[in-house]
Amino acid sequence: MPPPTTLALTGATGFCGSHLAALAVSRGHRVLALGRRPPRHGTHVPWDAAAGAVPPELRAADVVVHCAAAVGDHPPGSPAERAQYEVNVRATERLLAAAAGTPFVFVSSASVYDPRRDRSSVPEEHPTAGGHLNAYGRTKALADALALAAGAVVLRPRAVYGPGDPHLVPRLLAAVRGGVLPLPGGDVELSLTAVENLAEACLLAAGWPPGAYNVADRAPYARDTALRAVLAAHRRRARLLHVPPRLAALAAGRRPHVTAYALDQLAHRVVLDTRKSRSRGFTPVRDLDDYLAGIGAGDRA
Ligand SMILES: NC(=O)c1ccc[n+]([C@@H]2O[C@H](COP(=O)([O-])OP(=O)(O)OC[C@H]3O[C@@H](n4cnc5c(N)ncnc54)[C@H](OP(=O)(O)O)[C@@H]3O)[C@@H](O)[C@H]2O)c1
Repeated sequence: MPPPTTLALTGATGFCGSHLAALAVSRGHRVLALGRRPPRHGTHVPWDAAAGAVPPELRAADVVVHCAAAVGDHPPGSPAERAQYEVNVRATERLLAAAAGTPFVFVSSASVYDPRRDRSSVPEEHPTAGGHLNAYGRTKALADALALAAGAVVLRPRAVYGPGDPHLVPRLLAAVRGGVLPLPGGDVELSLTAVENLAEACLLAAGWPPGAYNVADRAPYARDTALRAVLAAHRRRARLLHVPPRLAALAAGRRPHVTAYALDQLAHRVVLDTRKSRSRGFTPVRDLDDYLAGIGAGDRA
């Protein structure tokens, strides 16, 4: 994206969006932060994605980056799905309509990929129409399809981590009980996405042809090695315990953070094929070691 550009950004108060807003401002872009709360970086434009909200004014924007979402892990069909549907699907639909004619980047998720199929190397063509294990995956898949149909650039990161992460690492630390971290099955390779890499991809993507693009770090991580490193960096002493996946599934729902979705995130090899985004100039320079070194240096956010 050649500077200076005006970026209309949703989700600028959230984990990923706040990193993107900071990066965009540091590169000389103007950020119009559409959301319920004032952001740390950018100019606040009040906007609530919930039901009945008026679409925001987007005339001043050169590009719209839609990062806001309701991200909770609720079972498909649960009452919470309605609220997630409003924010993730209906608001995306309204925003796409309001932005017609303006380049649009939609921050989707690898959760849209059908988990019933082999995901050992996931291209963007992997099916997204069904099998989702929670309302989040289901509603993000619907929004992803709407964005593609409207000619947007759709980014699909997986398991975003980094400074200020309120989701992934806190859930992991909360799953440690009595010095043990139970894990479904043996070690597997997983794609992860550093929040800084995602922010770079969002800025670059404004100039990409419409379509879906996987966004992940340079190489996948061995799950157990990565988890041990994260626990050590947070000074948590815990032994990894491999639990047969069927036994782990029995525990799903009985303990907070242990859901079918959470187990699926850890139980199978899921590696995103990022050749498409890389061919457009996406170069993921940050990795887990950088994040962990930051924690060692006192950034325990
Ligand atoms: N974190 C991950 O591991 C991950 C992985 C793949 C994809 N993603 C995608 O990345 C994007 C950002 O996720 P995140 O991790 O940054 O989530 P987050 O920290 O929970 O941030 C969510 C953002 O959405 C905003 N939002 C939620 N409901 C809203 C509403 N009704 N009206 C206006 N704004 C609303 C929040 O605003 P408030 O501050 O007002 O609540 C916040 O700015 C999402 O699209 C998510 O699907 C994330």
